[in-house]
Amino acid sequence: MTSRAELIRPFYVMQIMGRADRRPADAPEVVSMVVGEPDFPTPAPIIRAAQRALDDNRIRYTPALGLESLRQAIAQDYLDRDQLKIPAHRVAVTSGASAGLLLSLAAVLSPGDELLMTDPGYPCNRQFALAVGAVPKSLATSADTHYQPRLEDIQRAWGPRTRAVLIASPANPTGAIVDLEQVQAIAQWVRSQGGWLIMDEIYLRLSLQEPLRSALAVSNDIISVNSFSKTYSMTGWRLGWLVVPDALLDTIERLAQNLFISPPFISQQAAIAAFSSEARAIADSYRDQFLRQSEVLLLGLQALGFQLPVRPAGGFYGFFDVSSLTDDSFKFCEALCDQQGVLMAPGLDFTDEEPQKMVRVSFPKSEPVLQEGLRRIERFLTNS
Ligand SMILES: Cc1ncc(COP(=O)(O)O)c(C=O)c1O
Repeated sequence: MTSRAELIRPFYVMQIMGRADRRPADAPEVVSMVVGEPDFPTPAPIIRAAQRALDDNRIRYTPALGLESLRQAIAQDYLDRDQLKIPAHRVAVTSGASAGLLLSLAAVLSPGDELLMTDPGYPCNRQFALAVGAVPKSLATSADTHYQPRLEDIQRAWGPRTRAVLIASPANPTGAIVDLEQVQAIAQWVRSQGGWLIMDEIYLRLSLQEPLRSALAVSNDIISVNSFSKTYSMTGWRLGWLVVPDALLDTIERLAQNLFISPPFISQQAAIAAFSSEARAIADSYRDQFLRQSEVLLLGLQALGFQLPVRPAGGFYGFFDVSSLTDDSFKFCEALCDQQGVLMAPGLDFTDEEPQKMVRVSFPKSEPVLQEGLRRIERFLTNS
């Protein structure tokens, strides 16, 4: 019998990064478009708040669902930006969206239950499902539906053991969104089957078009997953949150107490400052720069023969079809890394549908770095 740990797949992004580390010491510096991480610093007000927390030297466990003041600040932010009244008691602070996803799946799935997940999607979701003994089941999508499932796709895939659906909007790797009318219809139908809709909204505030509203605007019956990682350039602080329906709060709290005790205290103190007007203005300026960077990279790659089936509406990725350049995108990524030190992520991490055709390119880098990357990719294509 296969052990649960053996079902865990490699994370190919990490393999490409490991390969880059093994390049000769005199090779030109790497241009990394492989991980989903802004290279901007965490905004200064957040750093200062963390420094004050350190000086006070009261770095302890906090309540399992987070500091009351932070939960209130998060609830207030929904009121300010989305005109949504979310009671602070429904906000559960977590150690990144990663812990939020794990807690959500542990709360709603029993061993053997099925989780429907969008393909293409974020690779760790499958592993979270396996870790709680559930069965991940892919919802295949296509560029025609903007790589997002429709209600009828979910209805078709729903089986007797299905208990939950996980959708990211905007999504990783495609940047695609689901419109709120669809979300509402899906949430209602899934609840009518006794299941739960989990919306990963980690890229919600990184819209590349008009501002997006949370799915909480159309349903209080969903779990919304969010994070400070991307919006506030805080990937290493390991802090996120969930907004949880009342019916699941107690379960989530008991799981959080046992699995994590509490989210990190320093990061929570710091994150309160993320909602100050100064930090918000900095985060907004980062988002504006992501938009400019997306234009440079997406247009530049298309000019080199990368095809973009769906233009991203949010986040900082492009999911490209490279089948006119290679018949194996993993080998393509390896060769690009070895020959030009440019790193991008092979489709294998994100999709089971023709992964050899696709690559994900991550663009939150300064413009000169992106231009250098484009020059090297052009050289690579000319030489191969
Ligand atoms: C869609 C999605 N969800 C969750 C995560 C995990 O984020 P965090 O750093 O908050 O754990 C990521 C990270 O890339 C992601 O892309």
